[in-house]
Amino acid sequence: MMKVRTRGPDETRGLGFKIGKLLKAGDMVGLYGELGAGKTTITKGIAQAFGIAERDIVSASFTLIAEYPTNPPFVHIDLYRINTDEELDHIGLGEVIGGKNIAVIEWAEKAAQWLPDDIIQITLKTLSEDEREITVKGLHEKDRHRR
Ligand SMILES: Nc1ncnc2c1ncn2[C@@H]1O[C@H](COP(=O)(O)OP(=O)(O)OP(=O)(O)O)[C@@H](O)[C@H]1O
Ligand SMILES: [Mg+2]
Repeated sequence: MMKVRTRGPDETRGLGFKIGKLLKAGDMVGLYGELGAGKTTITKGIAQAFGIAERDIVSASFTLIAEYPTNPPFVHIDLYRINTDEELDHIGLGEVIGGKNIAVIEWAEKAAQWLPDDIIQITLKTLSEDEREITVKGLHEKDRHRR
């Protein structure tokens, strides 16, 4: 478990980049935290580690799942608009998580039953306008590649 305090979005993106560099094909990252906590911001950093431009990672207003043809493939999922299990079934989460894909999931608590409980968990908490407390769990667990 790691707890970091960031000041401003650049620091949060920087942390995301470092985390991204530690990810392996097939890893899933669940992002937890209220509106504006910085989930999309840290996703930009994680994605940058795979060569994806910051501007290509957007808040999912209509796109719930965005897939990027990187190696390994990178998938950004935003479950903000999902309210029921039926909706979750319909978006085809099962087809984009797992395998070799790197999956980063905002509002991952909405898909708790569909996700392994050993996914990497990043929780962002707003401390002030520009400060966030970011807790990372499961990144260094040594069994995580044996799925
Ligand atoms: N330390 C910080 N880390 C991350 N974002 C910060 C920080 N300080 C200020 N911000 C600002 O907070 C906002 C975070 O927005 P972001 O879209 O990343 O949040 P989110 O958790 O994805 O929200 P949503 O639930 O709407 O998807 C941005 O406007 C960003 O500039
Ligand atoms: Mg977001």
